[in-house]
Amino acid sequence: MTARNAQSWRTLPEVPDTHVVSGAVYTDPAIFDDEKKRVFERCWHLACHESELANPFDFRTFDYVGTPLIAIRGRDGVIRTFMNVCSHRGAKIIHEPAGNAERLTCFYHLWSYDDRGACVDIPRPEAYQTAGLTKDECGLFEVRTETHLGLVFINLDEAAPAVTDYIGEALAPFEASLGSGELEVFHYNRSVLHANWKAWQETNLDLYHEWMHVLLRRTQMTAASMDSRVVKAFKYGHTMGGGLKATYDKYKGMASRDAGMALPGLAPDDFFFVDLWPNAALLARGTAIRIDVVTPIDEKTMLVEWRGLGRKGDSPEVRRTRMQHHNQYWGPLGRNVPEDAFAAEACEAGFRNGAAAYQVLAREENGKGQDDGMLRAWYAEWARRMDRSPADPLRSAAAE
Ligand code: FES
Ligand SMILES: [Fe+2]
Repeated sequence: MTARNAQSWRTLPEVPDTHVVSGAVYTDPAIFDDEKKRVFERCWHLACHESELANPFDFRTFDYVGTPLIAIRGRDGVIRTFMNVCSHRGAKIIHEPAGNAERLTCFYHLWSYDDRGACVDIPRPEAYQTAGLTKDECGLFEVRTETHLGLVFINLDEAAPAVTDYIGEALAPFEASLGSGELEVFHYNRSVLHANWKAWQETNLDLYHEWMHVLLRRTQMTAASMDSRVVKAFKYGHTMGGGLKATYDKYKGMASRDAGMALPGLAPDDFFFVDLWPNAALLARGTAIRIDVVTPIDEKTMLVEWRGLGRKGDSPEVRRTRMQHHNQYWGPLGRNVPEDAFAAEACEAGFRNGAAAYQVLAREENGKGQDDGMLRAWYAEWARRMDRSPADPLRSAAAE
């Protein structure tokens, strides 16, 4: 048989259930509603790097799967996060993406909150005396916030394990660099992609797709043997890929990276990455680190944020070179990230109308080479949290 007909197109291949993901996982609105409750309201979310809130009263606002939040560094140096929602009539309080403010004052009736979320000012408060409402009952809603290795995480679930328990050993390869306290964000870019949010995370879990990137074919696939690669899976679905190298001068216009520019704990030709379940990825390339965070907007649209980290105190010249290293691969006009965006949207185009029935994650190379093990580990955690089989997610839900 060559081409398939309607029935054989929709019949799953004869591989284990763990090696196939149904198209419904990307397109079904009920599954997305379930992901909001079972994944995004439960898991730690990487909100930003602490260098983005360097000074007391620096804040950043963000929308977390529909919930407006604001992270602010307090007078005491502690970063806290609050629902960016006024206790009075429920208006979203702060609308700027970032800034510095000692008081968070709602534009509507000018109720004011301090850096610890206490309501500190209500215009003409005496009119509330009769009803008995006081400022003490009007503080902001504080969301759990924990900082680990300079990364600021939030969690809507008050009963979730501590972020260090959640991450476990997964970030060990980044301890020397991120844990040095010497890094800062020098690049921030964001884009709305027209695809299910998981399609972005998959680009960071799929080792096989380096064939798509000419840049990786030249600089990475030639630099170290497939057998030197290691893929590891951790509790809660986190994964890491290591043992890769890059020979940058194999690509015209690029040069080998100077050892003096390497970040703490990294060799200039190193390449490794850690995917934090469900929606973040950290990638190290000797002289620069990239952090991706994907947040769904709905089941077919996502926001991806990309951050680039370098060393604080770089001279202007070193910073320029570091930015070039970062942007050649990972900038908005680089030869890596925009191609991944195209791939994510191409998969969405296939799944959107049910044209694609499923995708195959069946490569096995003993955890080396271009094994699909990271993808399978990610979906094993998805299955556990969602209580659905990725291969047949609608039947499992119906059986409940
Ligand atoms: S809604 Fe914020 S002060 Fe009234
Ligand atoms: Fe890629």
